[in-house]
Amino acid sequence: MTVPTKKGYGPFSAERRIGVLISGRGSNLQSIIDAIRAGRLDASIAVVVSNRADANGLERARDAGIEAHHLSPRAYADRDAYDRAIANLLQARGVSLVCLAGFMRLVGRPLLDAFPQRILNIHPSLLPSFPGLEAQRQALGHGVQVTGATVHLVTSELDGGPIVLQAAVPVLPDDTVETLSARVLIEEHRIYPEAIGIVLSGEWTVDGRRFVRAIPS
Ligand code: GRF
Repeated sequence: MTVPTKKGYGPFSAERRIGVLISGRGSNLQSIIDAIRAGRLDASIAVVVSNRADANGLERARDAGIEAHHLSPRAYADRDAYDRAIANLLQARGVSLVCLAGFMRLVGRPLLDAFPQRILNIHPSLLPSFPGLEAQRQALGHGVQVTGATVHLVTSELDGGPIVLQAAVPVLPDDTVETLSARVLIEEHRIYPEAIGIVLSGEWTVDGRRFVRAIPS
């Protein structure tokens, strides 16, 4: 059985197997694990991959009984070979949606081509404001009064793909990078599992930059 999907890239399998790529702490990975456990997200995590050996998220995955690997970029000839290795592993595990959760690398062609419109990322700002590194520091430096979190489809444009879901967070006068990041993180943990569920429903299309959800009949 398959679920409905947008035109072009074929349906998601009914198993809804996702792969999660991480580099560090893994709190967003944990929010996905928790949402699945609580029955708020109908999916399973097939595999977790980290580019760093010391990523705490690897432990979170193993504690949850999820297959987890460290793949070191240094073991591969170049960026493309590394991305191909990740794509091969994800495909071998039957993954149909890839979720970047604090994965601190640019996603290259081999991975994008293996999972067209099938890679999600979470970013700690209201994109298109403050793409790239240290989004919360950028927001504070700019003096914005509202920032937030964004889940988007990954394209070759850094933090520039179609926006699936956003949440706004107030910036308070005495905020530091730490206090603001903590407030944004609460929203990240809320919207990432929700966005994954939306994407896995298959009831959407992409129109230029826009992620367009189907109107329920
Ligand atoms: C999060 O703020 C996420 O938005 C950004 O990197 C951070 C990762 O945190 N892309 P964690 O590893 O999920 O705890």
